Amino acid sequence: MSKPKIKRIAINTGGGDAPGLNAVIRAVAVSAEKRGWEVYGIRDGYNGLFLPERYPDGGLIRLTHDKVRGITHLGGTILGTTNKGNPLKYPTKDRKGNWFEKDRSDEILRAFKKAKIDALVAVGGDGSLSIANEFAKKGLRVIGVPKTIDNDLDKTVITFGFDTAVSFATDCIGRLHSTAQAHQRVMVVEVMGRYAGWIALNSGVSGTADVILIPEIPYDIAKVAEKIKSRDREHRYFSIVVVAEGAKPKGGKTSIIEKELGRAERIGGAGDSVAHQIQEMTGKETRVVVLGHLLRGGTPTTFDRLISLRFGAAAVRALEEGKSGVMVALDPPTVRYVPLAEATNRMKTVPLDCDTVVTARDLGISFGD
Ligand code: F6P
Repeated sequence: MSKPKIKRIAINTGGGDAPGLNAVIRAVAVSAEKRGWEVYGIRDGYNGLFLPERYPDGGLIRLTHDKVRGITHLGGTILGTTNKGNPLKYPTKDRKGNWFEKDRSDEILRAFKKAKIDALVAVGGDGSLSIANEFAKKGLRVIGVPKTIDNDLDKTVITFGFDTAVSFATDCIGRLHSTAQAHQRVMVVEVMGRYAGWIALNSGVSGTADVILIPEIPYDIAKVAEKIKSRDREHRYFSIVVVAEGAKPKGGKTSIIEKELGRAERIGGAGDSVAHQIQEMTGKETRVVVLGHLLRGGTPTTFDRLISLRFGAAAVRALEEGKSGVMVALDPPTVRYVPLAEATNRMKTVPLDCDTVVTARDLGISFGD
């Protein structure tokens, strides 16, 4: 694309929140202002543009340098976010009252034009960046920034938010060791991650779990029970089992809580099911802790703050260089740009031969296989 004359850009945050979103917003606002551009934050994904009447401020917040001071370390997002109401599959009622998914992207594009916005920095995971890619294909100048605690976005070594989630999960697993040991119990810890086992794997190995169950390695519950019994035989009367929310038994399915129109399905229940079966098969008292949304909260780690600031500044440089339809990616020691089309609508899962899995096996951790 030719170098654009940019006067005004927008930024939005979409999907589940992740620690580091505010750091990206700050980096974009400050480095764009340095170039003389105006920056606007869109509230709640695209809702600020789409449903401006809902917001007393009209749905767009002018992000001056002053507005983004002191937010780098804050969790959440000052803009708000949503994982409902994908504008390409917007839940809509037909005349008979039946719901269907409608493509309303052209209305959003018209709203961008009306607000005289020359480009968008879209911060999100696979869902949000797939939407951003569709807008790029329709002619909007777009740069994507990879966010998700799940680390399941392809073409970037890491997404921001993941390090904070893993650090917190590792801390929790550490705390559970002492109570598990004191009561000679099995503690089952369920962590988020959707269909990828990155959070469970990294926190499980770092937290020295005895069993780690991830979606990429379907488990045999008899093998899990056997691992726990073998520890008992070695007079280690407690065990820690980390379960990714997407973990599934051999020949079984991921446990889905619900599926609504216009959004991804909600996953959950794997920890409960594993704990119940362990108690039945080993006779040991077993407790479950679901870390859930705690993994998304709190202040970002140093690593997440730094990559978030780097991603935000790199997104602005990409716009200045005339790029569009690309995502900023971490490729240590640098950041690079990859086409959104190559990074989205796919999933980066844990490779079975990756060094962390091999290390876990060397350390005697069971994957239940
Ligand atoms: O993608 C991030 C994530 O936190 C997943 O790990 C989890 O399955 C999902 O979002 C939960 O989303 P919700 O906010 O709808 O509960």
